[in-house]
Amino acid sequence: MNLKGKTAIVTGGAVRVGRALTLALAEAGCDVFIHYGRSAAPAQQTQQDAMDYGVEAHIHSANLADVDAAMGILPTAVAQFGRVDILINSAAIFPETDSFENSGPGLWQTLFAVNLRAPFLLSQAFAAQIPADGRGKIINILDARVRQPAPDHFVYRLTKGGLWQMTETMAHALAPRITVSGVALGAILPPPGQGQAYLDDLAQSRVPLRRAGNADIVAENVLHLLRQDFLTGVVIPIDGGEFL
Ligand SMILES: NC(=O)c1ccc[n+]([C@@H]2O[C@H](COP(=O)([O-])OP(=O)(O)OC[C@H]3O[C@@H](n4cnc5c(N)ncnc54)[C@H](OP(=O)(O)O)[C@@H]3O)[C@@H](O)[C@H]2O)c1
Repeated sequence: MNLKGKTAIVTGGAVRVGRALTLALAEAGCDVFIHYGRSAAPAQQTQQDAMDYGVEAHIHSANLADVDAAMGILPTAVAQFGRVDILINSAAIFPETDSFENSGPGLWQTLFAVNLRAPFLLSQAFAAQIPADGRGKIINILDARVRQPAPDHFVYRLTKGGLWQMTETMAHALAPRITVSGVALGAILPPPGQGQAYLDDLAQSRVPLRRAGNADIVAENVLHLLRQDFLTGVVIPIDGGEFL
Protein backbone atom coordinates (compact mmCIF):
# COMPACT_ATOMS: atom_id res chain seq x y z
CA MET A 1 0.00 0.00 0.00
CA ASN A 2 1.22 3.47 -0.90
CA LEU A 3 0.53 5.47 2.23
CA LYS A 4 0.36 8.90 0.60
CA GLY A 5 -3.23 10.20 0.62
CA LYS A 6 -4.52 7.35 2.77
CA THR A 7 -6.46 7.89 6.00
CA ALA A 8 -5.62 6.28 9.34
CA ILE A 9 -7.04 6.02 12.85
CA VAL A 10 -4.56 5.56 15.70
CA THR A 11 -6.12 4.72 19.06
CA GLY A 12 -4.15 6.15 21.97
CA GLY A 13 -2.44 8.18 19.26
CA ALA A 14 -1.62 11.29 21.30
CA VAL A 15 1.29 10.14 23.45
CA ARG A 16 4.21 7.72 23.68
CA VAL A 17 4.14 4.83 21.15
CA GLY A 18 0.81 5.98 19.69
CA ARG A 19 2.18 9.46 19.03
CA ALA A 20 5.21 8.01 17.22
CA LEU A 21 2.85 5.95 15.04
CA THR A 22 0.65 8.98 14.31
CA LEU A 23 3.61 11.12 13.28
CA ALA A 24 5.24 8.38 11.19
CA LEU A 25 1.97 7.98 9.28
CA ALA A 26 1.68 11.75 8.84
CA GLU A 27 5.27 11.95 7.61
CA ALA A 28 4.43 9.22 5.09
CA GLY A 29 1.56 11.37 3.80
CA CYS A 30 -1.44 9.84 5.62
CA ASP A 31 -4.26 11.94 6.99
CA VAL A 32 -4.61 10.94 10.63
CA PHE A 33 -7.47 10.63 13.10
CA ILE A 34 -5.94 10.73 16.57
CA HIS A 35 -8.03 8.98 19.19
CA TYR A 36 -7.20 9.76 22.80
CA GLY A 37 -8.69 9.15 26.24
CA ARG A 38 -7.64 11.83 28.71
CA SER A 39 -4.56 13.35 27.07
CA ALA A 40 -6.32 16.38 25.55
CA ALA A 41 -3.36 18.78 25.50
CA PRO A 42 -0.88 16.19 24.14
CA ALA A 43 -3.50 15.27 21.51
CA GLN A 44 -3.64 18.88 20.33
CA GLN A 45 0.16 18.99 20.20
CA THR A 46 0.33 15.74 18.21
CA GLN A 47 -2.38 17.06 15.87
CA GLN A 48 -0.32 20.21 15.24
CA ASP A 49 2.87 18.20 14.75
CA ALA A 50 1.06 15.93 12.27
CA MET A 51 -0.34 18.90 10.34
CA ASP A 52 3.21 20.26 10.07
CA TYR A 53 3.82 17.36 7.65
CA GLY A 54 1.08 18.86 5.42
CA VAL A 55 -1.63 16.29 6.15
CA GLU A 56 -5.11 16.58 7.62
CA ALA A 57 -5.32 15.65 11.32
CA HIS A 58 -8.29 15.38 13.66
CA ILE A 59 -8.49 14.54 17.35
CA HIS A 60 -11.28 12.67 19.11
CA SER A 61 -11.66 11.62 22.73
CA ALA A 62 -13.47 8.39 23.62
CA ASN A 63 -13.36 6.14 26.67
CA LEU A 64 -12.66 2.71 25.20
CA ALA A 65 -14.16 1.02 28.26
CA ASP A 66 -17.54 2.38 27.12
CA VAL A 67 -19.16 0.45 24.25
CA ASP A 68 -21.03 3.42 22.80
CA ALA A 69 -17.99 5.68 22.95
CA ALA A 70 -15.80 3.02 21.32
CA MET A 71 -18.40 2.44 18.61
CA GLY A 72 -18.58 6.17 17.91
CA ILE A 73 -14.98 6.39 16.73
CA LEU A 74 -15.30 4.92 13.23
CA PRO A 75 -18.43 6.88 12.23
CA THR A 76 -16.78 10.11 13.42
CA ALA A 77 -13.62 9.40 11.42
CA VAL A 78 -15.65 8.44 8.33
CA ALA A 79 -17.63 11.67 8.66
CA GLN A 80 -14.30 13.58 8.60
CA PHE A 81 -12.47 11.66 5.88
CA GLY A 82 -15.16 9.90 3.83
CA ARG A 83 -13.36 6.57 4.35
CA VAL A 84 -10.70 5.07 6.59
CA ASP A 85 -7.97 2.90 5.04
CA ILE A 86 -5.89 2.01 8.11
CA LEU A 87 -6.74 1.18 11.72
CA ILE A 88 -4.01 1.00 14.36
CA ASN A 89 -5.18 -0.42 17.69
CA SER A 90 -2.55 0.91 20.11
CA ALA A 91 -4.44 2.15 23.20
CA ALA A 92 -4.25 -0.18 26.17
CA ILE A 93 -4.06 -0.26 29.93
CA PHE A 94 -1.26 -1.94 31.87
CA PRO A 95 -2.06 -1.71 35.61
CA GLU A 96 0.83 -2.34 38.00
CA THR A 97 -1.60 -3.87 40.53
CA ASP A 98 -2.64 -6.61 38.10
CA SER A 99 -1.71 -10.02 39.57
CA PHE A 100 -3.47 -13.34 40.11
CA GLU A 101 -4.18 -12.41 43.74
CA ASN A 102 -5.24 -8.80 43.15
CA SER A 103 -7.30 -9.07 39.99
CA GLY A 104 -11.05 -9.05 40.61
CA PRO A 105 -14.08 -8.74 38.34
CA GLY A 106 -13.71 -4.96 38.02
CA LEU A 107 -10.16 -5.16 36.69
CA TRP A 108 -11.12 -8.03 34.35
CA GLN A 109 -14.01 -6.00 32.98
CA THR A 110 -11.98 -2.85 32.34
CA LEU A 111 -8.92 -4.58 30.94
CA PHE A 112 -10.88 -6.81 28.59
CA ALA A 113 -13.05 -3.87 27.51
CA VAL A 114 -10.15 -1.56 26.65
CA ASN A 115 -7.46 -4.00 25.49
CA LEU A 116 -9.58 -6.57 23.61
CA ARG A 117 -13.24 -5.63 23.13
CA ALA A 118 -12.48 -2.12 21.85
CA PRO A 119 -10.02 -3.35 19.17
CA PHE A 120 -12.70 -5.85 18.11
CA LEU A 121 -15.48 -3.23 17.94
CA LEU A 122 -13.25 -0.84 16.01
CA SER A 123 -12.09 -3.58 13.64
CA GLN A 124 -15.68 -4.67 12.96
CA ALA A 125 -16.79 -1.11 12.21
CA PHE A 126 -13.63 -0.53 10.15
CA ALA A 127 -14.29 -3.63 8.05
CA ALA A 128 -17.92 -2.64 7.50
CA GLN A 129 -16.95 0.63 5.81
CA ILE A 130 -14.38 -0.90 3.42
CA PRO A 131 -16.17 -1.41 0.09
CA ALA A 132 -16.36 -4.87 -1.51
CA ASP A 133 -13.69 -3.85 -4.03
CA GLY A 134 -11.67 -1.80 -1.50
CA ARG A 135 -8.57 -2.52 0.58
CA GLY A 136 -7.87 -1.90 4.24
CA LYS A 137 -5.20 -2.62 6.83
CA ILE A 138 -5.41 -3.25 10.56
CA ILE A 139 -2.36 -3.29 12.83
CA ASN A 140 -2.68 -4.41 16.44
CA ILE A 141 -0.06 -3.37 18.98
CA LEU A 142 0.70 -6.49 21.03
CA ASP A 143 3.08 -7.41 23.80
CA ALA A 144 5.94 -9.88 23.23
CA ARG A 145 5.83 -10.97 26.89
CA VAL A 146 2.85 -13.21 26.14
CA ARG A 147 5.26 -15.54 24.31
CA GLN A 148 6.69 -16.56 27.72
CA PRO A 149 4.16 -17.38 30.45
CA ALA A 150 4.88 -15.61 33.76
CA PRO A 151 2.69 -14.42 36.61
CA ASP A 152 3.20 -10.65 36.24
CA HIS A 153 0.37 -8.51 34.79
CA PHE A 154 -1.93 -11.49 34.93
CA VAL A 155 -5.10 -10.18 33.26
CA TYR A 156 -3.22 -7.82 30.90
CA ARG A 157 -1.40 -10.88 29.52
CA LEU A 158 -4.72 -12.60 28.86
CA THR A 159 -6.05 -9.57 26.98
CA LYS A 160 -2.90 -9.21 24.87
CA GLY A 161 -2.80 -12.98 24.25
CA GLY A 162 -6.40 -12.68 23.08
CA LEU A 163 -5.52 -9.77 20.81
CA TRP A 164 -2.66 -11.80 19.29
CA GLN A 165 -5.10 -14.65 18.59
CA MET A 166 -7.63 -12.15 17.23
CA THR A 167 -4.97 -10.76 14.89
CA GLU A 168 -4.63 -14.19 13.30
CA THR A 169 -8.32 -15.07 13.26
CA MET A 170 -9.28 -11.67 11.83
CA ALA A 171 -6.61 -12.09 9.15
CA HIS A 172 -8.60 -15.13 8.02
CA ALA A 173 -12.01 -13.55 8.55
CA LEU A 174 -11.27 -10.33 6.68
CA ALA A 175 -9.20 -11.65 3.75
CA PRO A 176 -8.91 -10.74 0.95
CA ARG A 177 -10.12 -7.15 1.42
CA ILE A 178 -8.29 -6.40 4.65
CA THR A 179 -4.93 -7.49 6.01
CA VAL A 180 -4.50 -7.81 9.78
CA SER A 181 -1.05 -7.92 11.37
CA GLY A 182 0.65 -6.88 14.57
CA VAL A 183 3.83 -5.85 16.30
CA ALA A 184 4.63 -7.37 19.69
CA LEU A 185 6.66 -4.99 21.80
CA GLY A 186 9.27 -5.70 24.44
CA ALA A 187 11.20 -3.02 26.33
CA ILE A 188 10.33 0.03 24.24
CA LEU A 189 9.40 2.85 26.65
CA PRO A 190 9.61 2.94 30.45
CA PRO A 191 6.26 2.59 32.21
CA PRO A 192 4.75 5.95 33.21
CA GLY A 193 6.48 7.20 36.34
CA GLN A 194 9.80 5.50 35.50
CA GLY A 195 12.69 7.07 33.62
CA GLN A 196 14.80 5.82 30.72
CA ALA A 197 17.51 4.67 33.19
CA TYR A 198 15.04 2.15 34.65
CA LEU A 199 14.40 0.67 31.21
CA ASP A 200 18.10 0.68 30.24
CA ASP A 201 19.02 -1.24 33.43
CA LEU A 202 16.25 -3.74 32.80
CA ALA A 203 17.36 -4.21 29.19
CA GLN A 204 21.00 -4.77 30.26
CA SER A 205 19.99 -7.74 32.37
CA ARG A 206 17.14 -9.20 30.35
CA VAL A 207 17.43 -8.35 26.66
CA PRO A 208 19.89 -10.43 24.59
CA LEU A 209 20.73 -7.35 22.50
CA ARG A 210 21.56 -5.54 25.81
CA ARG A 211 19.58 -2.41 25.00
CA ALA A 212 16.02 -1.10 24.98
CA GLY A 213 14.13 -0.27 21.81
CA ASN A 214 12.28 2.95 21.13
CA ALA A 215 9.02 4.17 19.64
CA ASP A 216 10.60 5.03 16.29
CA ILE A 217 11.64 1.38 15.77
CA VAL A 218 8.02 0.40 16.39
CA ALA A 219 6.82 2.97 13.86
CA GLU A 220 9.32 1.74 11.23
CA ASN A 221 8.03 -1.83 11.58
CA VAL A 222 4.38 -0.75 11.47
CA LEU A 223 5.00 1.23 8.29
CA HIS A 224 6.75 -1.80 6.81
CA LEU A 225 3.70 -3.99 7.55
CA LEU A 226 1.39 -1.37 6.07
CA ARG A 227 3.39 -1.10 2.85
CA GLN A 228 3.46 -4.87 2.25
CA ASP A 229 0.49 -6.33 0.39
CA PHE A 230 1.27 -10.06 0.69
CA LEU A 231 1.56 -10.16 4.49
CA THR A 232 -1.37 -10.88 6.75
CA GLY A 233 -1.69 -12.56 10.15
CA VAL A 234 1.96 -11.66 10.73
CA VAL A 235 3.24 -10.55 14.12
CA ILE A 236 6.72 -9.00 14.34
CA PRO A 237 8.26 -9.26 17.81
CA ILE A 238 10.16 -6.04 18.55
CA ASP A 239 11.87 -7.11 21.75
CA GLY A 240 15.63 -7.45 21.11
CA GLY A 241 15.17 -11.19 21.59
CA GLU A 242 13.91 -10.86 25.17
CA PHE A 243 11.05 -13.33 24.80
CA LEU A 244 12.66 -15.83 22.43
N1 LIG B 1 5.72 0.90 26.23
C1 LIG B 1 6.20 -0.32 26.03
O1 LIG B 1 7.42 -0.57 26.18
C2 LIG B 1 5.26 -1.41 25.60
C3 LIG B 1 5.66 -2.74 25.79
C4 LIG B 1 4.81 -3.76 25.39
C5 LIG B 1 3.59 -3.45 24.79
N2 LIG B 1 3.22 -2.15 24.64
C6 LIG B 1 1.92 -1.87 24.00
O2 LIG B 1 2.09 -0.81 23.09
C7 LIG B 1 0.93 0.04 23.09
C8 LIG B 1 1.33 1.47 23.37
O3 LIG B 1 2.12 1.47 24.53
P1 LIG B 1 2.37 2.78 25.40
O4 LIG B 1 3.30 2.41 26.49
O5 LIG B 1 2.69 3.92 24.50
O6 LIG B 1 0.88 2.93 25.97
P2 LIG B 1 0.32 3.70 27.22
O7 LIG B 1 1.03 4.98 27.37
O8 LIG B 1 0.31 2.79 28.39
O9 LIG B 1 -1.20 3.87 26.80
C9 LIG B 1 -1.56 4.25 25.50
C10 LIG B 1 -2.82 5.08 25.54
O10 LIG B 1 -3.97 4.26 25.74
C11 LIG B 1 -5.00 5.14 26.02
N3 LIG B 1 -6.03 4.55 26.86
C12 LIG B 1 -5.89 3.77 27.96
N4 LIG B 1 -7.10 3.49 28.49
C13 LIG B 1 -8.03 4.12 27.72
C14 LIG B 1 -9.43 4.24 27.75
N5 LIG B 1 -10.18 3.64 28.70
N6 LIG B 1 -10.04 4.99 26.80
C15 LIG B 1 -9.32 5.60 25.85
N7 LIG B 1 -7.98 5.53 25.76
C16 LIG B 1 -7.35 4.80 26.69
C17 LIG B 1 -4.40 6.31 26.79
O11 LIG B 1 -4.81 7.51 26.17
P3 LIG B 1 -4.86 8.90 26.97
O12 LIG B 1 -3.46 9.14 27.46
O13 LIG B 1 -5.31 9.88 25.97
O14 LIG B 1 -5.84 8.71 28.13
C18 LIG B 1 -2.90 6.07 26.67
O15 LIG B 1 -2.19 7.20 26.35
C19 LIG B 1 -0.02 -0.56 24.12
O16 LIG B 1 -0.94 -1.40 23.46
C20 LIG B 1 0.89 -1.40 25.01
O17 LIG B 1 0.22 -2.49 25.60
C21 LIG B 1 4.02 -1.13 25.05
